[in-house]
Amino acid sequence: MAKQGISESVRAERARYVASNAGSGAKHEEAKRWLPGGDTRNSIFWGPFPIYVSGAEGSKIVDVDGNERVDFINNMTTLILGHRHPKVIEALSEQLERGISYPAPTPLVIEWGELMCERVPSLDKVRFVNSGTEATLNAIRAARAYSGKTMLAKCEGAYHGNHDAVQISVMPDTAVAGDAETPMSVLMTDGMTPRSADEIVIMPYNDLANAERIIRENADELAAVIVEPINGQCGMVPADPEFLDGIRRVTSELGILLIFDEVIAFRASRGGAQEYFGVTPDLTCFGKVIGGGLPVGAFGGREDIMSMWDPDAEGGPRVAHAGTFNGNPMTAAAGVATLRELSVDVYEELEEKGEYLRGKLRDAIAELEAPMGVTGAASLFGIQATTEEVRDYRSYTTNDNELLEMVFLGMMNEGYLLSSKCAGNVSAAHGYEELDGFVEAFKKVLGRTWGA
Ligand SMILES: Cc1ncc(COP(=O)(O)O)c(C=O)c1O
Repeated sequence: MAKQGISESVRAERARYVASNAGSGAKHEEAKRWLPGGDTRNSIFWGPFPIYVSGAEGSKIVDVDGNERVDFINNMTTLILGHRHPKVIEALSEQLERGISYPAPTPLVIEWGELMCERVPSLDKVRFVNSGTEATLNAIRAARAYSGKTMLAKCEGAYHGNHDAVQISVMPDTAVAGDAETPMSVLMTDGMTPRSADEIVIMPYNDLANAERIIRENADELAAVIVEPINGQCGMVPADPEFLDGIRRVTSELGILLIFDEVIAFRASRGGAQEYFGVTPDLTCFGKVIGGGLPVGAFGGREDIMSMWDPDAEGGPRVAHAGTFNGNPMTAAAGVATLRELSVDVYEELEEKGEYLRGKLRDAIAELEAPMGVTGAASLFGIQATTEEVRDYRSYTTNDNELLEMVFLGMMNEGYLLSSKCAGNVSAAHGYEELDGFVEAFKKVLGRTWGA
């Protein structure tokens, strides 16, 4: 059978989407009255309009049109136990009876801290915040205060939050980003001070020789190197263990702090990505999973670094850190309930499901001879619309964005929710029949273009 063009398929999927999501379309028109473009969170906005959610339970999410979909976004990897896990709801209900927020800590925050430090190898102490953005902001400030130096090194194509120190070379136009071995630092948005780009050096991900060279060249000025052990932005691309090992070796040798951004990668195992890869950073940033679905972030690490925040220290804390909702009891309750559930067995099961799904997706791609691939690790996966192996930002840019849109909208039309870049993740609430259903839907969507 003749193959339909991808553009034509995108148009057909869009038309189907618009027709079956009329209520969301109408809500979006209303939203535009009060929110710029109807949006308050660019990372989950998609065209022609997003779905407006009316509820969710377990693995399922329902929109205002009554469409039920199996959710493979889980609020961008947050809901590792699925929606409305009974233990989380129970903990939140109990806390609701006692109060929502207080001007003093609750005992819950102690248990939360213990649950984190006891499982994450590098964590002697931890501080809670309300987003991953705040986590990286504070970890970077810590590194600067501790080292007395200001420069930072980060990988091209890595997102570490929405602040000036790191909104650089996240998704740069390769036409202005220099060569792959020595990428330039490119500001990602208007409104940033151009000086931000001078305070950072950019390294290629998964290219140890060049990353090590760049670190050595800037060693005298580098306060820290920040690395995401599984790159979410490029479709859940795991670091080579040798890359992480090498970065650890060179930073230790040169006395530069190593920060792991585990806002997503904490999903890898009970002790996070550092346990999964067996590499121990000096500081780690967290978010998403650890708040059980409520706004959260945390940063932690070695005692001597974290003690800079100790309010009992002589002369007060060396580094300032406030936040009206830090360690708030609702987030703490949901976070504690979630972490208590996250045993080694749960992680093993999640990894098995992740492996199963990635394998089946690869089989489907091979069967249909579609120009695509699959990346991922543990419970995380990314569908790539390229035949190149995606290992870093430059290979990620070989994706055919139109094909990604076709798959994203097609999967929505078939009842499966992915991120608009076709990344996803498995939660404990997903059964194998849902994973099989996902693969069947994927084949159906691709089959509309590549089918016999
Ligand atoms: C790796 C990574 N770091 C930091 C952040 C920022 O977290 P938040 O959105 O909670 O500010 C994100 C968010 O997606 C992330 O994926």
